[in-house]
Amino acid sequence: MNKLGVAILAAGQGTRMHSDLNKVLHPVCGQPMVLWSIAQAEALGADPIVLVVGNGADAVRGAVGARAQYAVQAARLGTGHALLQARDLLRSRAEAVLVLYGDMPTLRPETVARLLALHREQGPAITMLTVRSRDSMGFGRVLRDAQGRVEAIVEEEAATPEILALTELNCGVYCFDGEWLWERLPLVAPTPPKNEYYLTDMAALAIGDGLAVEALCIEDADEALGINTRVQLAQAEAVLRRRINEQLMLAGVTLLDPAATYIDATVRIGRDTVIYPNTILQGETEIGQGAAIGPNTIIRDSRIGDRCRVLASVVEEAIMEERAEIGPYGHLRPKAHLGAGVHMGNFGEVKDAYLAPGTKMGHFSYIGNARVGEDVNIGAGAITCNYDGRNKHTTVIGPGAFIGSGSMLVAPVTIGAGAKIGAGAVVTHDVPEDTVAYGVPARPKKKIEDDDAA
Ligand code: UD1
Ligand code: CA
Repeated sequence: MNKLGVAILAAGQGTRMHSDLNKVLHPVCGQPMVLWSIAQAEALGADPIVLVVGNGADAVRGAVGARAQYAVQAARLGTGHALLQARDLLRSRAEAVLVLYGDMPTLRPETVARLLALHREQGPAITMLTVRSRDSMGFGRVLRDAQGRVEAIVEEEAATPEILALTELNCGVYCFDGEWLWERLPLVAPTPPKNEYYLTDMAALAIGDGLAVEALCIEDADEALGINTRVQLAQAEAVLRRRINEQLMLAGVTLLDPAATYIDATVRIGRDTVIYPNTILQGETEIGQGAAIGPNTIIRDSRIGDRCRVLASVVEEAIMEERAEIGPYGHLRPKAHLGAGVHMGNFGEVKDAYLAPGTKMGHFSYIGNARVGEDVNIGAGAITCNYDGRNKHTTVIGPGAFIGSGSMLVAPVTIGAGAKIGAGAVVTHDVPEDTVAYGVPARPKKKIEDDDAA
């Protein structure tokens, strides 16, 4: 099979985005736009993948890294000129050259694969992707001869009324015979008035050489969406969101209202999990089976185990083991780790802390920089005072301890296993195990006897 190289054109200015951020770095369903194009190329096993960027596109290199090689188009002289910048990296390394845009995230990898298959089957000079659409989207029109063979691509600004009426449009995605491409591309002449070098001129060049131009025509205009404005950015987001949600539903995840459920492409969810409306799942998030998430929930870069419950809460870089539950109005911050079956009720906040299985904190508590043993009861409004204005300090709570409502555990401090802290206590010193302590500051009052504990 002939070797495939890809050029992704992304040197455009993106001025219509009115943004300080490079257009192709605007996220679509959580991923920088250009990474969707990189994924389209990677899905075909293409090598090399060359990204054509403009001057000063360091942020783009930063986001894409080693997933592509880079060619720089110093002046924006048109799509033909942009592709020419990739010549040195592709010539002699690829027999077939696929051209993609960095601003077409909705193009399905399966469609690109079909284009490539047609190219390999027919062996023409060019196999191009076209779309049938009543809305011209400003795209070039595809001209066919009486036999239905592609003759030329005519840009909208150069089109006669008859050509403007054509509904087959050029998507801008092509597969070229590499040898022919690199020989002929330098011959493309600039088109006035802007004197840009149009890649679309290659179609007529091929015909002039007596070579064939094949076309794969798709019907779904959503796939051909090129993003120039934030309106189109939102359209692409909606298209991809719908696709992600449908895939999840077909794999056994219930979404009560997919139109109001926002899930990044990178999120994994197990079967029989139910996602309620107004839920946003982002980044490297993994949710197990049989969980219930939302409504009104944000989870980012977190691992949620089987049968967990997250109700109207925010979870960031945290772990919930199976059957743990939080909310409503809970907040797990980075490095919060709830063991199996931990219950965190309304207005709880946990940060950089492990709560062992069976521990409960029902109401209004803050636990930060802490290790909490099994089956601890954290009373309403109890908090760890982990910050002294300069440094963070650790609180350790042994298994089976009872932390009374409204108590303050002033870190660094250790509460022994089975200890009981009275309501409203301010604990500034360690409390031995099985000891009752209360007051301000709290003092150990008595050892708990077996019948006390009963
Ligand atoms: C181009 C096609 C048009 C097609 C349309 C589909 C040409 C002349 N026309 O239109 O037939 O219907 O795509 O979207 O090719 N780019 C560069 N450097 C440049 C110019 C463009 O890297 O000098 C990149 C852009 O970043 C973008 C892509 O090429 O990713 C397309 O450029 P754009 O200006 O949007 O396409 P058009 O010329 O309008
Ligand atoms: Ca465009």
